[in-house]
Amino acid sequence: MTNIVVAEGASAFMNPRAADRGAAYGAARSAILNADGFDHAEAAIGDWPDYRETPLLALPALAGRLGLGALAYKDESGRFGLGSFKALGGAYAVYRLIARAIAARHGISPPRPAEILGGRYRNEVGGMTVTCATDGNHGRSVAWGAQLFGCRCVIYIHATVSEGRRAAIARYGADVVRVPGNYDDSVRHAAAEAERNGWTVVSDTTYESYRDIPIDVMHGYGVMAREVLRQMPEPPTHVLVQAGVGALAASVCAAFWLAWGPARPRFTVVEPVNAACLYQSGLAGHPVAVPGDLDTVMAGLACGEVSPVAWEILSAGADAFATVDDAFALEGMRVFADPSGGDPAIVSGETGASGLALLLATADSEPIREVLGLDGGSRVLLIGSEGDTDPAIYRQVVGRSADELRQ
Ligand SMILES: Cc1ncc(COP(=O)(O)O)c(C=O)c1O
Repeated sequence: MTNIVVAEGASAFMNPRAADRGAAYGAARSAILNADGFDHAEAAIGDWPDYRETPLLALPALAGRLGLGALAYKDESGRFGLGSFKALGGAYAVYRLIARAIAARHGISPPRPAEILGGRYRNEVGGMTVTCATDGNHGRSVAWGAQLFGCRCVIYIHATVSEGRRAAIARYGADVVRVPGNYDDSVRHAAAEAERNGWTVVSDTTYESYRDIPIDVMHGYGVMAREVLRQMPEPPTHVLVQAGVGALAASVCAAFWLAWGPARPRFTVVEPVNAACLYQSGLAGHPVAVPGDLDTVMAGLACGEVSPVAWEILSAGADAFATVDDAFALEGMRVFADPSGGDPAIVSGETGASGLALLLATADSEPIREVLGLDGGSRVLLIGSEGDTDPAIYRQVVGRSADELRQ
């Protein structure tokens, strides 16, 4: 029986399958995400116009307040001007599929980003259409990648995606179509429309016989993890990674495993209470779908079905699974915006603040800290996966705009 520990606003359990980490697990993980794939993504994305490392911020005062030894925050708010780490994944997959199509057509090796950006293949790329379902950030990345490399793009959003997030996707020239139901319904809709129209789905989640493109997306995310490796002189003892379909968490898990081996940090997957598909899958020991409207302020995490390849990595790769209430995500945003003790102010959206949300909810709960393995000596890394990706919601929660905060 798995021992679930509950505090007000959070719950957690140690992953019973963390023991299944033999050679077979390592081989399965590397068959999905590997150094080669991360190297390719790093080389390609490093070539894109305006690529810059995002900062890793030290938060010593907040660490003290939370009873931790150190706290670091990987701040993705400035990633390519899109506001989240997602800029790395969808757009990279769009590049890869265009490069592969050109290679197949001309019998050459896949062209580098600069060759496509230079316009040499403009006509054939212009005849391609990419599509996906999104709760905001992934679609923004796909639309941006399509605009950057010159193909058409149709994005499907579900009923509760905010108007701000819709407009942010449309800004990159995509047709944005709202469909009834939740995120998982929109995923099915995008797949059906792609099939009917001969478009290519660029999804961040895998399904039967569809793996390569989401794996490209995950290798793209690995650029962020690789930056962390360069920015941290010694590995943190813990990392908290928020999960929607689990692609981000799986990418970070694999990249850290490859680089740090046994010295890698203890890995906790964090999800909203109402959309905890990895948590439920961890309890069941196999992928479990969470039904309902998946209602949460952490919009990027409102997913009811884990990506199967992400699950292959996280099923044994995660050390613990945790849930946190929306109220703590909102508190986390405010805490980041109004730091004390000389820590830098941080613009973090609802989803970006979910790691801090878990720490805030559990700071006084020794039983949960024990499950997570946290104590006064812990050096914790938080993945600040987004900034104010919906500026109107950000202002409503924090009381100021991101620009006002940065002044
Ligand atoms: C800002 C942000 N953080 C984290 C995630 C979670 O990523 P994944 O769905 O790969 O678990 C998302 C997903 O959309 C997101 O937008």
